[in-house]
Amino acid sequence: MHIVALKSPDSRDLRSVIHPDTVGKIVNLQGITFSFESGIGDGINIPDQVFIDLGLKAISREECLAKGNLIITPSSLTTDESNRVQAGSTVLGMLDPFHSGDELKALNQSKINAVSMEFIPRITRAQKMDVLSSQANLAGYAAVLEAAQHLSSALPMMMTAAGTLKPAKVFVIGVGVAGLQAIATAKRLGARVEAFDTRDVVEEQVKSLGAKFVKIDLGDTGQTDQGYAKELTPEQISKQKELQSLVCERSDIVITTAQIFGRPAPKIIDEATIKKMKPGSVILDMAVETGGNVEGSVLDEVVDINGVKVVGISYLASKVSSHASFALSNNIINWITDFYDEESHALSFDFEDEVIQSSVLAYEGKIMNERFA
Ligand code: NAI
Repeated sequence: MHIVALKSPDSRDLRSVIHPDTVGKIVNLQGITFSFESGIGDGINIPDQVFIDLGLKAISREECLAKGNLIITPSSLTTDESNRVQAGSTVLGMLDPFHSGDELKALNQSKINAVSMEFIPRITRAQKMDVLSSQANLAGYAAVLEAAQHLSSALPMMMTAAGTLKPAKVFVIGVGVAGLQAIATAKRLGARVEAFDTRDVVEEQVKSLGAKFVKIDLGDTGQTDQGYAKELTPEQISKQKELQSLVCERSDIVITTAQIFGRPAPKIIDEATIKKMKPGSVILDMAVETGGNVEGSVLDEVVDINGVKVVGISYLASKVSSHASFALSNNIINWITDFYDEESHALSFDFEDEVIQSSVLAYEGKIMNERFA
């Protein structure tokens, strides 16, 4: 089997789907040839030669598409690229299925199997493959550092001869993987942290990090069996906005991470709330790529609304591209090692397996996931 790894076509994404500390696990498996798109490590300061020394081959993107049986990629292929891939090959990566319907259709029509790493089920056995978690964790860390850079105060309390500097107040909305890491990072930097999530099961986790859980009673909210939040009703959103605005008013940094899997992000901070906030405070909208939690946030821009800086950054995990690539590469390689059959030198697509069932969207010309059928 010829595995090829593609570079991100988006210059804002510095991550690599392969990392020198992880590829060793599969490069020596029986029947594997491993190539990569030349320059894949540019964003993590890894020259081609490092991968070549590990036994991989540097080739062009064109060659990758034409020769690969298993193409690993940080984004979906374009329709035109799908036409250049051999039928029967497999494309595995962050295919962004909710926004890449046409690209998925093109892969399927060309009889290319499509495996979406975003659809790894949230079960214990598959945690090692969970790209959403590995990247959200680093994005949560990066969000705090980015927000802090826009604040004109320091985060920790400092008792100095020149007077006592008060700690910054940070409010994290949405306490999933990214939110928890944002809380932990802000705490480490000495900020006072409050947090809210519609899933009240996270209250204990927030407290265990030394932050305060903001209680807002929205009635029945709950979560799905995969641990994702359920969508709120318009009445619940409006109540959340109203009560949460009091916390925003007293915060120096607000970090929003609220997401509903497969749906646009809920708009939970409106302009009225922003106008109540102190000039100089910062809102970092981590959901900006999926529609945004904050009214007025713009991807890759800092928008000034009444003196409040509303920050939207694409590919936040890419701000720590080396660690993000290490984790991403490990996630992908763990999928491959679990499903590569050393006897037949091919991937084994066992649709009885929960990971295969969930992550394989297209197989041998058929859409396998009902959601995309
Ligand atoms: P996510 O990225 O889909 O959403 C982020 C957070 O936003 C969630 O905590 C969600 O409850 C919250 N949210 C949604 N609407 C909101 C609103 N209106 N206001 C405030 N918050 C709102 O979620 P993520 O981070 O991918 O994970 C969610 C949960 O899944 C985790 O906390 C964990 O319990 C579970 N999980 C389980 C794993 C496993 O068992 N393998 C792996 C990773 C996560």
